[in-house]
Amino acid sequence: MELLRGEVHLLVWVTAAVVLLTILLFSTAPFFTDYFRKWRIMRPIPGVGPNYPLVGDALLLKPGGGDFFQQIIEFTEVLRNLPLIKLWIGPMPFLIVYHAETIEPLLSSSKHMDKSFAYKFLHPWLGLGLLTSTGEKWRSRRKMITPSFHFAILAEFLEVMNEQSKILVEKLSSRAGKGSFNCFMDVTLCALDIICETAMGRKIQAQSNSDSDYIKAIYEMSDLIHRRQKMPWLWPDFIYHNLKAGKKHNKNLEILHSFTDQTILERAQEVKNAKASAENVDDDGEEKKSKKRSAFLDMLLKVTDEAGNSLSYKDIREEVDTFMFEGHDTTAAALNWSLFLLGSHPEVQKKVHKELDDTFGKMVFQKIP
Ligand SMILES: *[C@@H]1O[C@H](CO)[C@@H](O)[C@H](O)[C@H]1NC(C)=O
Repeated sequence: MELLRGEVHLLVWVTAAVVLLTILLFSTAPFFTDYFRKWRIMRPIPGVGPNYPLVGDALLLKPGGGDFFQQIIEFTEVLRNLPLIKLWIGPMPFLIVYHAETIEPLLSSSKHMDKSFAYKFLHPWLGLGLLTSTGEKWRSRRKMITPSFHFAILAEFLEVMNEQSKILVEKLSSRAGKGSFNCFMDVTLCALDIICETAMGRKIQAQSNSDSDYIKAIYEMSDLIHRRQKMPWLWPDFIYHNLKAGKKHNKNLEILHSFTDQTILERAQEVKNAKASAENVDDDGEEKKSKKRSAFLDMLLKVTDEAGNSLSYKDIREEVDTFMFEGHDTTAAALNWSLFLLGSHPEVQKKVHKELDDTFGKMVFQKIP
């Protein structure tokens, strides 16, 4: 009797284990099939790291943006003669292109419109705006927004750029001749001041006062997202949101969204007021020119699609947040490295300087009429 009970016991345990294993196997099978398929397709492309199972090359990668970029440069220098190289982050392959001939066909074609998996981590902040959306949504949004980039409108933004660049130059020149330093923060704050005023019509003066909560949140958020993208163990939400980084992410998200929410409400009210007073003053449809500079946000509040529908409040926030991120992150990185390269090659810097002087005359930073 005792023996029988022991056997039943064992049988129950074994059955339970087999059932569990089967469930596990079946539920993960699609993942592994996909992983293997990608691995097979990507095999001919030379990789930069050991590509360990599940983590890929992630253990090798530098978490910070600047260091990571430097690392990519090193990879591409070693493998300069190859058209492209491959990097595995977790179970995801990424291709690095670094020759004009391999970049051009990608940029000039609309075949690869869907954004890669890593953009997913921008969704909580940016929603599905111009950067993250695809297909029909992207196309109709793009059509609505394109007129905002008309030359006449951009010329108005140039004043903002000149004002802020002037502050940046003053800041940089106070450090000239005192040895090398990393200018990334200075450049980032300048880019943020410019995008804040041109996208939302708000002057935040980040360059002179870098402890604005909103600016800190943008900067931290961009950094947190870049880090998460490179660490596959932070990908699952249920892990990330329980970690310190995830909590910081959520706190910043609240600051970012409430700032844009508030700005949109304010500007919407202003547009409404302006419209009401314009209607009262003249009814021949001529818009009264206000002294205030218009911002990208003002145009979003006015645009309509072919059917005459305007953007919803949520749509507008998506685009404003998108421009706040995309309008400073890539720009700051490009400016940072351009300044670095110009500084490292004084003969080239001299040539660029001369070309600018020849084109604009010696008086730079004058207001363009
Ligand atoms: C900015 O440029 C400096 C070189 O001056 C470089 O060391 C740094 O990593 C760069 N930062 C970023 C975030 O690209």
